[in-house]
Order: sequence, then C-alpha cells, then structure tokens
Amino acid sequence: MTEPLLEARRVSMQFGGLTAVNQVDLAVHPGEIVGLIGPNGAGKTTFFNCLTGMYRPTSGEVRFAGALLPPKPRRVAMAGVARTFQNIRLFHNMTALENVMVGRYCRTRTTALDAVLRLPRHRREEAETRAHGLQWLEFVGLEGAVDALARNLSYGDQRRLEIARALATDPRLLLLDEPTAGMNPQETREAEALITRIRWLGLAILVIEHDMRFIFSLCDRVTCLVRGEVLVEGDPATVQGDPRVIEAYLGAPVAGGPEEGDRA
Ligand SMILES: Nc1ncnc2c1ncn2[C@@H]1O[C@H](COP(=O)(O)OP(=O)(O)OP(=O)(O)O)[C@@H](O)[C@H]1O
Ligand SMILES: [Mg+2]
Repeated sequence: MTEPLLEARRVSMQFGGLTAVNQVDLAVHPGEIVGLIGPNGAGKTTFFNCLTGMYRPTSGEVRFAGALLPPKPRRVAMAGVARTFQNIRLFHNMTALENVMVGRYCRTRTTALDAVLRLPRHRREEAETRAHGLQWLEFVGLEGAVDALARNLSYGDQRRLEIARALATDPRLLLLDEPTAGMNPQETREAEALITRIRWLGLAILVIEHDMRFIFSLCDRVTCLVRGEVLVEGDPATVQGDPRVIEAYLGAPVAGGPEEGDRA
C-alpha cells in the first residue's frame, strides 16, 4: 500500500483526570475514505481536534505527508488538512460566498497593508478568490445562494457551505465531523453523493458519522472508538459484523438481566 497521507501514532488527550483519547493509531492513505464511529462521548471529536491543531495532544504524534503536523489550526490548514465541525461554525452574518472566501485566505499572499491601500495585487487576488469561491459553491450545489446570509440557509445547506469553505483551502485531506447530523433522508443522500464527488477530485476523507448505512456504503475502512480507545479497525463488512461494535452501541447484556435469564 502507498505511504499514509495522515498518520496518527499513539495519540492521547487528557482533560484533568479524564482520558478522552487513549493511544489511538490511525492512518488515512491518499484517496481513501475512512470512517470513525463510536458511541457518544467516545472521543471522536476530541481526536479530530488533536489532528487539526485545536488541541495539542497530551502524547503521541500526528504526521501528514511524512512531516510532523504542528498543533496550530492555521498551519494544519496550510499543510493541506481541512475540516468541518459537529456544531456548524459559519460566519452567520456573512454571505455564503464571503464564508467560502474566508477559507481561501490561507492561500492568498496579500497583507493587511495591501488591502488597506487597495494595491493592484490585492485587487487581483480578491477577484481570484471570488471566482474560486463561486466554483466551490457551484460544486456543492449552492450556486443559487451565493449572496444569501449564512444564517438564512437551511441546516443542510449550512453543512454544504462548511464543506465548500473547507474545500476552498485546497486540502489533500478533508475531515468531516458528522456531516449528515440533523439532515433528512433526502439531504443525507445528497451529502453522500457530494462526498463521493469529493473523492473523485482525489481527496482523502476521514469522516465521523452515526449513520451506519452512510458509513458502511461509503468507507473503505472503518475504525470504531470506544471510551477513547480503538475497539475494532478494518473493512466495513468486518467492522459491521463484529459483535463488540454492536455491543458498544447497544450495551452488553447485563449479568442476570432478562436475556441471561432467557438463556438459563
Ligand atoms: N474540552 C473538554 N474538556 C473536558 N472534557 C472534554 C472536553 N472535550 C470533550 N471532553 C470529554 O471527552 C469525552 C469525549 O468527547 P467527544 O466530544 O470527543 O466525544 P464524541 O465521540 O465526539 O461524542 P459525540 O458522538 O457525542 O459527538 C467526553 O467524555 C467529553 O465530555
Ligand atoms: Mg463528536
């Protein structure tokens, strides 16, 4: 197999006495879609925060394209890793296009002084950023909402806008934290199609989801986290059929409970 694009090695994150992420290893190869599943509170979002520089892991290391990723969100974005958030984080009083343009600014070179003086370089870059933003809005299907304020978009459209903003940073790896949360079945299918088209662009994707149909139909590999640790890792069929995964979601039968009694 090719060298991993992203490689997390023995990543741990502690909050006081709580170990939210415990010695997690995870790799994503170029072009792969990897799913991260696990019950509420398993540490999935915390792990994403460790990968994207929002948190400095208590221990372990994160490598991207062979180099150590500095624990600074802007540096991580510049290295080629973009993300969306479980709780949508948009600039609600800015338009859809402006939100996407913000994503692009990590790739532009003009300084604040260029902007204040409205130097030609700034004007040229601004026009390019705008054109680039329009392309991504079209890609995610929001070409009809360019000038709409983010707060006026439907929930599903806000999630798509976050994806457009992430794509505008020109990532090689996209991290999606529950991209279909709160969506109706139709929006969920559209999100699936969108993620498939993102893969066709050649991007690798790491996605956290609770919708198992979505995970098992889309992912090449799946990792299941429970209480901060990797419980099972493998291809979708293996993970789906593993009784420990079902148990992690539904809870183990209680000793002496009704099921035990039935068997006796
Ligand atoms: N900043 C923080 N300070 C203290 N504890 C935290 C912090 N962030 C998360 N935790 C705790 O770490 C654990 C893992 O939380 P996390 O949000 O990563 O889980 P998750 O797998 O994303 O869950 P969900 O599926 O509900 O989104 C939880 O017990 C949570 O309360
Ligand atoms: Mg979460």
